[in-house]
Amino acid sequence: MNLDQSRQDQLRRWERDHLWYPFTQMATLADDPPPLIVGAEGMYLVDADGRRYLDGVSSLWVNVHGHRVAAIDAAITDQLQHVAHSTLLGLTHPPAIMLAKALVDVAPAGLTRVFYSDTGACAVEIAVKMAYQYGALTGTTERRHFFRLNRGYHGDTIGAVSVGGIDLFHATYRPLLFPTIPVESPYCYRCPWGQRYPGCNRACFDHVADVVAQGASGACGFIMEPLVQGAGGMITLPPGYTAFVRQVTERHGVPLLLDEVATGFGRTGTLFAAARENVQPDFMALSKGLSGGYLPIAATLVREEIFQAFLGAPERTFFHGHTYTGNPLAARAALANLELMQSSGLMQQLPDRIAALTAALEALAALSHVGEVRQCGMMVGVELVADAASTAPYPGELRMGSRVCQAARRRGVFIRPLGDVVVMMPPLAMSHDQLRSLVTMVGEAIAEVTGTV
Ligand SMILES: Cc1ncc(COP(=O)(O)O)c(C=O)c1O
Repeated sequence: MNLDQSRQDQLRRWERDHLWYPFTQMATLADDPPPLIVGAEGMYLVDADGRRYLDGVSSLWVNVHGHRVAAIDAAITDQLQHVAHSTLLGLTHPPAIMLAKALVDVAPAGLTRVFYSDTGACAVEIAVKMAYQYGALTGTTERRHFFRLNRGYHGDTIGAVSVGGIDLFHATYRPLLFPTIPVESPYCYRCPWGQRYPGCNRACFDHVADVVAQGASGACGFIMEPLVQGAGGMITLPPGYTAFVRQVTERHGVPLLLDEVATGFGRTGTLFAAARENVQPDFMALSKGLSGGYLPIAATLVREEIFQAFLGAPERTFFHGHTYTGNPLAARAALANLELMQSSGLMQQLPDRIAALTAALEALAALSHVGEVRQCGMMVGVELVADAASTAPYPGELRMGSRVCQAARRRGVFIRPLGDVVVMMPPLAMSHDQLRSLVTMVGEAIAEVTGTV
């Protein structure tokens, strides 16, 4: 569906006069206006002039099977024949109940209760509030603080920002945030201890063990993204790190909150990243891929003993809820997504797709301004550097990551950077050929912008 020029001009005027975009410096919007998306088909987004863009970041890390998937469309359409929205405060509905059962069936062992919300940040916020209240309900000493990783990202509400660790996004709000205990990020490419993996004696493991041992008595939880720190720069954690944090937190009686908002629903190769290291968290936050990239829905899963601690007198209630909590349309989309993940054999096909992606990425690692290519399943970060030998970054004002994304867009690929880390997060169902052309076009864009021949 192309839009005629006068309609496009009108929309652009209204956009300029009234819209405020997320994570966007609006002063420079006119230099790089975003494509006006009016449709989608499979792995492609289509703009108002009919240009097609390969969806290289799964519409912000959410899409699983592609766009306009018949089974998910049908589930939502069917639900529309019943009820689009009805509250979970005082009423309930089959999709919410069925999805809770379906999630518990596939979640890491021990997670038996599902609390709904609508964004990843909310799922985290809820886990944080629950963990705090759980500490208050059960703790022998006063539990007040959370451990969190530097470079961690858990969303943009105040609680989620409090446990985040990306200065560019979070420093402004520090005075508003609750205190936390930071743990250094195990970012091997820029190791805080100046070492090189694997000959490093795993200083980051000793560090986290020490920090937790020192602060455990007053802690309500340890929050982290398992396997990969996504928004922090697609930082793939050293093998065994997530499991090690579980061991350490368990030893000290500190609940573990895993934020699987980005890593969940097959992203890292298993349904949940926790499974890769056989980790059983106490809390798990889910969103993004939960509805296959269709509708906003999130869930916080908790262990049964945590849920049980909230039972009893009225003041033990978890006083939290959102108007659209567990929305039936979104819950139906999520159920259809999960069913399709099982019936289509997506998870069985995933190892081959991941291998095809790995093979294609080899060509990028050879480019002279690529410092490191990091991949975990279908999550990829390509760190651009001014000098690969010294790992010296480009000056920020060059905005190399953004320029590479613009160059990729000219070639028909939509991707978003994280600073100078070029991110690829293709929908899990993307074909081998599409994966290869995604990487080829991104490689060409990197070569063009960095002046590599
Ligand atoms: C690990 C992680 N947690 C939480 C969030 C926040 O999710 P939302 O943007 O839906 O609030 C994100 C978003 O990128 C994320 O990557």
